[in-house]
Amino acid sequence: MVILGIETTCDETAAAVVRRTPDGRGRILSNVVLSQISEHAEFGGVVPEIAARAHVEALDHIIAKAMNEAKVSFRALDGVAAAAGPGLIGGVIVGLTTAKAIALSHDKPLMAVNHLEAHALTPRLTDGVPFPYCLFLASGGHTQILGVRGVGDYVKFGGTLDDAIGEAFDKTAKLLGLGYPGGPLVEKEAAQGDPQRFALPRPMSGRRDADFSLSGLKTALRLEAEKIAPLSDQDVADLCASFQQAVVDVIKDRLRNGLRMFRLRIGPPNALVCAGGVAANQAIRKVLHRVAFEIGAELVAPPPALCTDNGAMIAWAGAERLVLGLTDPLDFAPRARWPLDEVTKAAEKALVR
Ligand code: KG4
Ligand code: ZN
Repeated sequence: MVILGIETTCDETAAAVVRRTPDGRGRILSNVVLSQISEHAEFGGVVPEIAARAHVEALDHIIAKAMNEAKVSFRALDGVAAAAGPGLIGGVIVGLTTAKAIALSHDKPLMAVNHLEAHALTPRLTDGVPFPYCLFLASGGHTQILGVRGVGDYVKFGGTLDDAIGEAFDKTAKLLGLGYPGGPLVEKEAAQGDPQRFALPRPMSGRRDADFSLSGLKTALRLEAEKIAPLSDQDVADLCASFQQAVVDVIKDRLRNGLRMFRLRIGPPNALVCAGGVAANQAIRKVLHRVAFEIGAELVAPPPALCTDNGAMIAWAGAERLVLGLTDPLDFAPRARWPLDEVTKAAEKALVR
């Protein structure tokens, strides 16, 4: 089974071709990603209108490149998958409409893939992880703790009430004048800083749920910075180190609860899987290892290029759905908001029918 996957929900224009063999293994035939980071850098974050225009300009070429590298023709495809949300709606429309056009003109099935579902299924493409497993997804747009029980069968144990973790790193970097994207820059500064110098809060810690709230932490950091302004290089490093330590502590507390909920509701997980750009952070990686070790589970981290947004994960999710007959009509509407439990409900209905 050979599937074309298209991703345009945020600031990456991406297309990939993935083959799924009957034994359930995946092979990436091509994976082309064009990052728009430089176009958004001066604004310190992704600008939706700029993103949508950039997708329109780039997508045809990116798809052609992916098809060429994979050495397949549209006719040889078994299906076309596109991320149909959640995400910035302008970009989602660009990707989904393009996928529909290819599906219609070549008479192929369309899979309108949920972007979060694609992140959730990636460890099956990269590592063949069996269900069920726990996913910690942390990027610039998402922060979720998910139980993955099967294709189209997800349970959300925790999410963020305000900022995503990557977004909190980006806003911290912006506040301290470090640049964009902020995560790697804050991590670099933190390596030179004192994590104990500023007593920042650990929002939500100690609560029984597995939710996150990061906007208060950002405000606390701003107040500390204002108190000691103008900031020396060492002040900036200490602020970054204290911020990163607070995030690490919050993740440890929240994830422990999430895993507890997982065990109660589903049983022991086969693995703890991390995805999203934030998982590149070494201090966060370390705490994920520790939490996984505590429950005797393995930490699975797909390679960074497949943890961040890409077309291969969309193609793979499309393949996993097509095998089960979960295809979508050509009038499927793009969605800015699309929680995973709605995917679960829709799949239940389709599979029962
Ligand atoms: O998954 P991703 O590449 O894109 C989406 O958000 O969709 O994640 C990017 C996010 C940014 O917010 C970036 O600051 C954050 O991941 N990030 C990091 C690190 N590297 C990237 N956050 C903390 N530490 C890092 N080393
Ligand atoms: Zn993503």
